[in-house]
Amino acid sequence: MKPSSPALISRDPLAPCAQPAYLWCMTAPLIDPFARAISYLRVSVTDRCDFRCAYCMTEHMTFLPKAELLSLEELDRLCTAFIRLGVEKLRITGGEPLVRKGILTFFAAISRHLQTGALKELTLTTNGSQLRKYAADLAALGVKRINVSVDTLDDRKFAEITRWGRLPQVLDGIAAAREAGLKVKINAVALKGFNEDELFTLTEWCARDGHDLTFIEVMPMGDMGEVQRTDQYWPLSDLRAQLATRYTLTDLTIRSGGPARYLRLNETGQTIGLITPLTHNFCESCNRVRLTCTGALYMCLGQEDMADLRAPLRASPDDAPLEQAIRAAIARKPKGHDFDYSRQKVAGQVRRHMSHTGG
Ligand code: GTP
Ligand code: 5AD
Ligand code: SF4
Repeated sequence: MKPSSPALISRDPLAPCAQPAYLWCMTAPLIDPFARAISYLRVSVTDRCDFRCAYCMTEHMTFLPKAELLSLEELDRLCTAFIRLGVEKLRITGGEPLVRKGILTFFAAISRHLQTGALKELTLTTNGSQLRKYAADLAALGVKRINVSVDTLDDRKFAEITRWGRLPQVLDGIAAAREAGLKVKINAVALKGFNEDELFTLTEWCARDGHDLTFIEVMPMGDMGEVQRTDQYWPLSDLRAQLATRYTLTDLTIRSGGPARYLRLNETGQTIGLITPLTHNFCESCNRVRLTCTGALYMCLGQEDMADLRAPLRASPDDAPLEQAIRAAIARKPKGHDFDYSRQKVAGQVRRHMSHTGG
């Protein structure tokens, strides 16, 4: 009998299945060793970006040779396999996803899974620089909402933090997204001494323009050279306390399928998300894995372990070895990250940069 709820599913995804075995094994959802169902895949389609954000990359990054990238057709085949195994939410990331050549063709191909209903959400996280060019097409292909990174509304500070980015271009991209009917969520990395003084400016801008807003604690990913993470770190417990000096906060139970926990500012009615890997670990409810543009699957953002899906993908036109490799990878998903800044030093740092997996 096919189980009707995750509670009835074996905790060991590789365990032999009950009768009738063959059908159930092929369609069994992805459940990790901690009984978490994997329903969210983040796909980094390129490690390249037209910005060089100071908390994400060094100024002189070395990128992957183009020859090492999976083709968009191969990425499509991988995504399709995950969707067959129960993934319902797909977030396209980078680097900057919209700088990958042919990206619209990729969205167009993947959108067939929205039409069948197998995929519930197709979305992306972007720096906004290319939205004027792509927003209308993305909306036409079934994208409903997008996350755009904006850490400051000050032109000079924006150029400083992104090194190569220009705020007016991003704001114009956001305007294009809204004109195309896309819902916009602004991601702001909370940075001590950088955007603390813009907490209310950012909040008021989002209230006025109708964007959702999420703050993120800075995570220790990649060697940043001279930049010290502990110097950048602004705990969201402190940010929340500052918000409470001006607004009445109500904790909400709504979820977007990602790691954010939400609160409402009663006075404006707006929703604010807090992503708190440091002050409040949310790993127990993790539902996601991330695929890179070379076919590496990272089971946790904060761990080095990864599984190579390129070899089984290329070994056979039949997806069975690939599905087996995906199940074996999920069976290795760790409990969570080890990021920690207490004791004034960084623990749990991972070597790769955030741009490698797109967060
Ligand atoms: P929603 O669908 O709107 O909830 O988006 P999301 O928060 O899942 O995606 P987004 O790309 O906007 O990510 C926001 C931040 O959350 C980024 O800094 C990501 O690195 C971070 N993030 C996403 N998933 C994880 C995770 O599993 N662990 C940790 N520590 N951070 C994560
Ligand atoms: N810590 C937290 N968030 C980060 N991002 C990039 N680097 C880091 C980091 N070290 C954010 C970007 C983007 C999202 C995908 O991840 O600003 O919004
Ligand atoms: Fe590019 Fe995003 Fe990294 Fe900034 S955070 S450098 S926009 S990938």
